Amino acid sequence: MNKEIVVSGIRPTGFLHLGNYFGAMRNYVKMQDDYPCYFFVADYHSLTTHPNPQDLKKNVFRVVAENIACGLDPEKIALYAQSDVPEIPELYLLLNMLAYKGELEKVPTFKDKVRQQPENVNAGLLTYPVLMSADILIHRAQKVPVGKDQVQHVEMTRNFAQRFNNRYGAFFPEPHPFNFGSEPVKVPSLDGNGKMSKSENINATIYLADDDDTIRKKMKKAKTDMAPTEPNSTMTEAVENLFQLMRLVSDEQTVATFLKNYNDCSIRYGDMKQQLAEDMVTFIKPIREQAQALQEDEQAIRTILKNGAEKARESAAKTLAEARKLVGIHYY
Ligand code: TYM
Repeated sequence: MNKEIVVSGIRPTGFLHLGNYFGAMRNYVKMQDDYPCYFFVADYHSLTTHPNPQDLKKNVFRVVAENIACGLDPEKIALYAQSDVPEIPELYLLLNMLAYKGELEKVPTFKDKVRQQPENVNAGLLTYPVLMSADILIHRAQKVPVGKDQVQHVEMTRNFAQRFNNRYGAFFPEPHPFNFGSEPVKVPSLDGNGKMSKSENINATIYLADDDDTIRKKMKKAKTDMAPTEPNSTMTEAVENLFQLMRLVSDEQTVATFLKNYNDCSIRYGDMKQQLAEDMVTFIKPIREQAQALQEDEQAIRTILKNGAEKARESAAKTLAEARKLVGIHYY
């Protein structure tokens, strides 16, 4: 087994979607056989938006069930809730001393949140990348499978790791974003605006819990453009997005056929969207059904989380003990 350690997390803020799958979870499943992996539900991170306490547990359990339905095997990895590992917030506290207000205020995801929710710009939101760094560094990870939107947070983690190392001695390895065989991906939304998301543009996002008809309806409304009139024209963003989605869920032959139709101007976007809808249905149905079945067995999920927390704490405790010693907090 490779020695490089893998860490990644997902916030329990809504239903998981194709963006989460192709940006992150597909990599988790591929990596679990070759690396020591720590995958977690980022429940502390979700508190920045003050979720209803009654909903939180259900959402955490659903994220666990959906990850397993996608192929994660809790026997092979540590699958846990962030809040079950108290070493993470303790490392977060140490790292907060090395994180500066100015740099945190400049982070694009923070600036977006300030625009979206000006009434709730709390300190947790500002220090979100520091908590994320603690999630990663607590296991001294080197590989972080994430989508494109999280790449900058991993860069900041590298900065904080370097800063710690410069001040206290070489200890943390530098983590990097990871996607098998290519750059991190951004799965586009169906309305031509930005990316698929757990809580925004619900009708332009395909969720792993969507039923067959919902998928077909959403695909029917997906944005397209005028058909090309000149052979081999450059694609508009909306059309490029459809091809991108098709490359993810359809077979190569199907993609090649529609590409040829595009290039010789015979493409009919209605047909393409219908084909894409059917391929998404085929892809999602088994995941949805298995995730539903798993969620009915709460006891099984509790056991998975408990075992996962034990594995994660074992590794986390070692890192924290060393980090405290290096900082000088070591009295007896
Ligand atoms: P979150 O919960 O928003 O998303 C979970 C994972 O899904 C990826 N993702 C996407 N990838 C491609 N296209 C999309 N449309 C798309 N939407 C989401 C995200 O990049 C992510 O990999 N801050 C993180 C959670 C986190 C974390 C960590 C991740 C907390 N601590 C430590 C890695 C390591 C977040 O909010 O992801």
